[in-house]
Amino acid sequence: MSTFDLPDGLVYLDGNSLGALPAGVAERLQDVVRREWGEGLIRSWNDAHWTELVRRVAGRIAPLIGVAPEDLHLGDSTSVSLFKTTVAAARLRPERRVLVVEPSTFPTDGYITAGVADLMGLELRWCDPADPLAAVDDDVALLSLTHVDFRTGAMFDLAGITAQAQARGALVQWDLCHSTGAVPVDLTGVDADFAVGCTYKYLNGGPGSPAFLWVAPRHQAAAKQPITGWFGHATPFAMARDYEPVPGVGRFASGTPPVLALSALEAALEAFDGVSLASLRDRSLELTDLFIALVEERLPGVFEIATPREHERRGSQVSLRHPSAYGVVQALIARDVIGDFRDPDIARFGFAPLYNTTDDVRTAVERLAAVIANAEHADPAYASRNAVT
Ligand SMILES: Cc1ncc(COP(=O)(O)O)c(C=O)c1O
Repeated sequence: MSTFDLPDGLVYLDGNSLGALPAGVAERLQDVVRREWGEGLIRSWNDAHWTELVRRVAGRIAPLIGVAPEDLHLGDSTSVSLFKTTVAAARLRPERRVLVVEPSTFPTDGYITAGVADLMGLELRWCDPADPLAAVDDDVALLSLTHVDFRTGAMFDLAGITAQAQARGALVQWDLCHSTGAVPVDLTGVDADFAVGCTYKYLNGGPGSPAFLWVAPRHQAAAKQPITGWFGHATPFAMARDYEPVPGVGRFASGTPPVLALSALEAALEAFDGVSLASLRDRSLELTDLFIALVEERLPGVFEIATPREHERRGSQVSLRHPSAYGVVQALIARDVIGDFRDPDIARFGFAPLYNTTDDVRTAVERLAAVIANAEHADPAYASRNAVT
């Protein structure tokens, strides 16, 4: 297993928010800054092959989600990527007037979909997370869902929902932020239409590392994204007056790619070298199963386990409901176990199968039991919340 630079003694269960620092990334960044930027300067676009960074990183992410590298683009945040793909999807179904999203999704997905609906004069329709397909009729252009729920860790049936929504004539978009790198995904096998995902969680690309977007090859030639910048042009350095998109998914680019962030991400993805996705999933389920079992054994009745028990419905996190969940998370952080809190009552623990171990799980539950036994979560210091929870 590859190594990560984690502080000694710390149990880090927040890789579903910000992945840990893989060994080698700091050195790679140092080299890019000092040598490629500092010495190579503008020459590095060619000499250090910065122009090929997006393609190289796409090549490393593609196998994790079952797609061809040439169908992936990287460079923006997940939110901006969603904006681009959602507009493109709506334009591919001009005769349909409705965009469907679910109300418990990560807020940005709802905000962006609402913004696109407003911009394009479409209807935003909220679906029931328990039955998203019920909202998909013959006026729906796009069903946009998050594969693994950020609060509960519940996972949708990617293949089944995609097939049934497409049978009703809708396009289907998946947000893979909480899947990629922890849950194997086969977008090609599923035959989805669009996908987006961040790279700073289970892919360990670092804070703010660029998101990816995927467009099924059958849509690329007709796809029109709204931010038609020069980097998506067929010949950017011809400096032509009129916009002509590059063939393929490259047309989803807008401006200059974030070279430092992409370089860090490229180095971080080496942690997946030689790792099978099936073994990652096995490890993830082993960790979440053990955590659930130990919490129930050591702390019966203290928490409601919000995460589904069935493997096929579970991502790579376990969420515990508790009226003082914020205090529980803060008290655990004081004991060097890092998880996070999600409003209103969820203590959330992400298990990154690349670096978390069963020892981490046992230690975390030991310390959780101590927090509860000593009522450390009731400390008045935790009455007000930090800006980032
Ligand atoms: C499911 C999901 N979608 C979207 C986002 C937002 O991503 P970004 O900040 O890259 O726009 C997040 C962030 O955590 C997320 O969890």
